[in-house]
Amino acid sequence: MYDNPNLERKVAQAESKISARNVQVFYGDTHAIKDVNVEIEARTVTAFIGPSGCGKSTFLRCLNRMNDTIDICRVEGDIELDGENIYDKRVDPVQLRAKVGMVFQKPNPFPKSIYDNIAYGPRIHGLAKNKADLDDIVEKALRRGAIWNEVKDRLHAPGTGLSGGQQQRLCIARAVATEPEVLLMDEPCSALDPIATSQVEELIDELRDQYSVVIVTHSMQQAARVSQKTAFFHLGNLVEYGDTDQIFTNPHDPRTEAYITGRIG
Ligand SMILES: Nc1ncnc2c1ncn2[C@@H]1O[C@H](COP(=O)(O)OP(=O)(O)OP(=O)(O)O)[C@@H](O)[C@H]1O
Ligand SMILES: [Mg+2]
Repeated sequence: MYDNPNLERKVAQAESKISARNVQVFYGDTHAIKDVNVEIEARTVTAFIGPSGCGKSTFLRCLNRMNDTIDICRVEGDIELDGENIYDKRVDPVQLRAKVGMVFQKPNPFPKSIYDNIAYGPRIHGLAKNKADLDDIVEKALRRGAIWNEVKDRLHAPGTGLSGGQQQRLCIARAVATEPEVLLMDEPCSALDPIATSQVEELIDELRDQYSVVIVTHSMQQAARVSQKTAFFHLGNLVEYGDTDQIFTNPHDPRTEAYITGRIG
């Protein structure tokens, strides 16, 4: 079908966006992540599930070097984004985090206007040629965040004046404004009501046409609704990784089964 055998192989296999090999994380003497190996696919939503303290947030933070900000934290092993080692000395963590954006549990808009929340990253990274260009970037990001219609008439009002669900969509819009390739979300809906949660879930589903999304969630229903791949962590180990349907209907490891049936966690 293709003249180029490499291309053929690429099409046949799911495209790997992030590749983690033999990743270990320590906080002082605490061994929080134990030899984790995983390929995170492009244009896929991957859910990280597992009991509290199993290392979901720790591993997620490895993927954009957010652990660099924790003094006692040490990361070992290899993590590649599109084949490039993100822990290479030449990689600027600020640039990396523009490519691998993050959304946190609690919506955290800057104490600035809605417009400036979105414009902040593009300004830092010099993405706009002029004011009209920046206006376009802001509108595009707010549309991508499924919140444009709610805020277009009050772009200069403070972001902190929005409802919790709106603030979270603003934060997602802020993360996409720097044109990331990967979006990391750590329990992005846990502070939201069911309506705001379903809006954010719909948005996550739309985002996967363009980005690789990794979401940590305590809700197995949410993992089943939004993700195509699921990784189950337990005591710092990645116990099982596979298609979400398989993990939830036919888990191979007894620890996964115990967790999804509610016996551990
Ligand atoms: N900043 C830190 N300093 C020291 N130890 C930490 C730190 N952050 C996490 N840990 C430890 O690392 C382990 C994994 O924690 P982590 O926060 O990654 O778990 P989690 O799966 O995200 O849990 P939860 O579901 O409760 O958010 C735990 O033993 C935790 O106590
Ligand atoms: Mg966590």
